Amino acid sequence: MRFGNIELKNGISLAPMAGVTDRAYREIMREFGCEYAVTEMISAKALEFGSNKTSELAEFSSFDRPVAIQLFGSDPAIMASAAARIEQTFRPDAIDINMGCPMKKIVSNGEGSALMRCPDTAGKIVKSVKASVKIPVTVKIRTGWDENDKNAVDFAKMLEDSGADLIAIHGRTRMQFYEGNVDLETIREVKKAVGIPIFGNGSVMSASDYKRMKDFTGCDGVMIARGSRGNPWIFREISDFCENKDYKPPEISEKLDTIHKHMSLMYGYKGSKGIIEARQQLAWYFKGFRGAASLRKKAVTVESFSDIERLIESIPIEEQIIC
Ligand SMILES: Cc1cc2nc3c(=O)[nH]c(=O)nc-3n(C[C@H](O)[C@H](O)[C@H](O)COP(=O)(O)O)c2cc1C
Repeated sequence: MRFGNIELKNGISLAPMAGVTDRAYREIMREFGCEYAVTEMISAKALEFGSNKTSELAEFSSFDRPVAIQLFGSDPAIMASAAARIEQTFRPDAIDINMGCPMKKIVSNGEGSALMRCPDTAGKIVKSVKASVKIPVTVKIRTGWDENDKNAVDFAKMLEDSGADLIAIHGRTRMQFYEGNVDLETIREVKKAVGIPIFGNGSVMSASDYKRMKDFTGCDGVMIARGSRGNPWIFREISDFCENKDYKPPEISEKLDTIHKHMSLMYGYKGSKGIIEARQQLAWYFKGFRGAASLRKKAVTVESFSDIERLIESIPIEEQIIC
């Protein structure tokens, strides 16, 4: 698949997750075949007010490409100016606009998925961002607000007419948040309705889910969010499937090495704040380990990088059978 200058072999991508898919996380996913990634969402308003904490979210390494930086906001002029600043400062490969976030504090400001109820404003945002940058502008949406207002098809056509280069669609409504069945039918309808590439997204947890998403919807690429937590190997599983190779799940030693590397990256980039955030990541990695409950209990109490190293070293490799 191709959009702008970005070419992806199989379109296997990491979806944005605020508080999860930081720089360290994305770097680990890249090692296992993630072809494209989107940063955590960044507030256009906060960027415009010059928040250092906010711009840290936009940092990425040279091998973490192609990468899109995701912005959220509801004011076309602020979004355009934030996008231009991002392009000049960080040089990402694309700007992604969040029109899917269901969180109350976002939606109540008219941002995220609230924009699906305000197509005029959404169109103005795309047009003004598009006019302010040279790189592709992509948009992440949902199927609609709720069961009675599934407007993704018309909304996607409007985004395309406004200049969007790609649409990623999460097959749930705003009211579903992250639960319930993924509506592949609407993703398929969106794909049929527009000429720009589409990423299908929602509950892809394995190569067979990837195949189902692609076969059913005809989407060009697939975005994976929760299926990658504690399981960067999902990218290897799907790449191997695409290349007709046999997939070998990771041995325990590979798992432990990867966890160690991920934790060092988090600590390296974020210092002690990274340790607090690492607790949740460790808990995801330990899923399926023998003694997972006790490992998770220990994970949520780590206070330092040496605590993390001690915890990893305490896991007896020979006794581990990973389910
Ligand atoms: C903790 C968490 C944070 C998320 N943050 C973002 C975000 O910043 N921007 C965005 O567009 N979507 C965000 N999402 C939505 C995901 O990108 C994705 O659309 C959704 O989780 C469905 O995909 P999945 O079933 O593979 O998890 C988030 C999801 C989760 C679970």
